[in-house]
Amino acid sequence: MEYSAFVLLRHGTAPKGALQKNKRQAMTHPKPTLLQLLPLPSEDAPDRLNRYFDVIRLWEAADPNAAMQAHQEAIRVLITSALTSTPAELIDSMPNLRAICSVGVGYDSIDVRHAQSKGIQVSNTPDVLNDCVADLAWALILGAARDIGRAERYVRAGKWGGANPLPMGTKVTGKRLGIVGLGRVGLAVAERAAGFKMDVRYHNRHERSDVAWPYVQSLRELAEWADFLVVATVGGDSTRHLVDRGVIDALGPEGILINIARGSVVDEDALVQALQDGRLGAAGLDVFDREPHVPDALKNLENVILLPHIASATRETRRDMVDLMVDNAVAFAETGRVITPVPPISE
Ligand code: 8YV
Repeated sequence: MEYSAFVLLRHGTAPKGALQKNKRQAMTHPKPTLLQLLPLPSEDAPDRLNRYFDVIRLWEAADPNAAMQAHQEAIRVLITSALTSTPAELIDSMPNLRAICSVGVGYDSIDVRHAQSKGIQVSNTPDVLNDCVADLAWALILGAARDIGRAERYVRAGKWGGANPLPMGTKVTGKRLGIVGLGRVGLAVAERAAGFKMDVRYHNRHERSDVAWPYVQSLRELAEWADFLVVATVGGDSTRHLVDRGVIDALGPEGILINIARGSVVDEDALVQALQDGRLGAAGLDVFDREPHVPDALKNLENVILLPHIASATRETRRDMVDLMVDNAVAFAETGRVITPVPPISE
């Protein structure tokens, strides 16, 4: 459906005979305004958005506050991301906002409850990043177990062949893998374990009836059992510090913790302490509590791999994420509904 049809939809069903006239008017009718908070890594996204919206590219504005003030009444759609803070105050500053389209699967950066309570639709980009995030979880599992970071630094420092050999790594194949949060990404992580002949168990809010891996109701019990514990759950208040000192101690001095979810899920201070004391074997982290800040205490440790939140950052997946976000904005323009809405957040 073209933009003219969107105008008809917004104004209800056209009376018989008025269609041609309305179509002519629609061609001159101003497009709805869309506020884009961040640049998008896509060549065709700008053209697709410009076809349907008057796009305000806030990061390019000489004075972003003035740009906001000038357009806030007109803005109907907001483009944000899983890593861009979108609080209630920002949402409230646009009285005619009807849809928030986010790049990313996580939505803990957006006050979804507030938006939904005002009837504003919120969309995210699920599924298209599952494979890349799961791949990176495996890069961290292998990297942490085989000490890839330290080994690489060792070669670069010219230490190979010197007096101090590297310590031995940990075997991955045949070990026990615990998954915290068996959602779409957790599932993709678990499926990859078959190639490593690993035993898989999971902890979730609810047991799943569609998988054969055993469910473990207590996270501590899962951590006690596991050699590797991969955190793949949602972020936000409901999971804050789910992986606490007790869980870390249950994983133990031979255990390896991987986090590709949100930094907030792991008690970072307890993690640093455990790694420093040798109460936890190693960790592979793509996410941190106060990104992009990474505590020096973590940077000073050898038994951690630290990555700058790159799990979905491949050219292919980022393109797919942006395409899906734009699909949502376009669908909203054409039909009044986004296509991958965030589920309703209950009170
Ligand atoms: C991205 C993410 O880094 O999807 C998420 O929830 O955290 C990551 O995939 C982010 O969405 C980039 O916009």
